[in-house]
Amino acid sequence: MGGRKTVFITGASRGIGHATATYFVRQGWRAITCSRDEVPEECQRSERHAHITCDLADTERLEDTVLRLHNILEGEGLHALVNNAGFSPKGEGGRRLGCLDGDLALWQKVFAINFLAPVFFARACAPLLEENRGAIVNVTSIAGHRVHPFAGSAYSTSKAALTALTRELAADLAHMGIRVNAVCPGEINTAILSPGTERLVERIPMRRLGSPEEVAALIHYLCGEGASYITGAEIPINGGQDVF
Ligand SMILES: NC(=O)c1ccc[n+]([C@@H]2O[C@H](COP(=O)([O-])OP(=O)(O)OC[C@H]3O[C@@H](n4cnc5c(N)ncnc54)[C@H](OP(=O)(O)O)[C@@H]3O)[C@@H](O)[C@H]2O)c1
Repeated sequence: MGGRKTVFITGASRGIGHATATYFVRQGWRAITCSRDEVPEECQRSERHAHITCDLADTERLEDTVLRLHNILEGEGLHALVNNAGFSPKGEGGRRLGCLDGDLALWQKVFAINFLAPVFFARACAPLLEENRGAIVNVTSIAGHRVHPFAGSAYSTSKAALTALTRELAADLAHMGIRVNAVCPGEINTAILSPGTERLVERIPMRRLGSPEEVAALIHYLCGEGASYITGAEIPINGGQDVF
């Protein structure tokens, strides 16, 4: 038990979350993950990896998820929370949904998963993280900072809110010794990307998509000793898209 660190990662059935769980486990951490379904076969499991099934859109059930987290922890400490789960609804044929699209229920669902769940988990995990001077990393998006050709308006505004939440949490949790930062991906090669993303690559200075493992490494860095004086930061990971 001694020395082992534990991270709770939301939305880790695939993509960035799965890569992050795998990365942390390889670095000797225990990873507790959650998503709507069981972790698929192809996602490597080990005894250092526990999974909770939950639908983060159902805000009434978030408390239940935290109870299950406590049960898995069995009194062991929590050292990091990664709010990674994200939902980016698209229109027919992958069409971008703008401000005039989608009913309010869809906007509420986007905000429940992308914003309210991180608020809830940050509040619920703060006492656990305080014991270990732990860290929170929120996964925001380049779409939270500018209009994106594929990411919709509900998604983008929810990510802008998550960026603001990172700042607010950093200020409010600093006295507890908890650091709160965000990683802000550009185009990362996962299932969330829309058809046509290849065309965006021409506008990326590094001329390629990022990999989930590259994001995982940054998240891991922000949770570690090397980042001990970093809080309230949002680190872009986008192949240089901010240089223009
Ligand atoms: N890929 C990119 O280019 C990119 C760019 C900017 C930001 N991001 C952000 O990075 C994060 C990870 O994205 P990704 O690219 O890895 O996406 P992804 O491959 O679509 O994975 C999304 C994860 O979120 C989980 N999730 C979605 N809805 C959920 C719900 N209602 N309840 C519980 N879990 C839910 C999914 O699990 P289940 O579906 O199995 O429940 C899945 O594990 C997201 O926050 C996304 O907004 C990604």
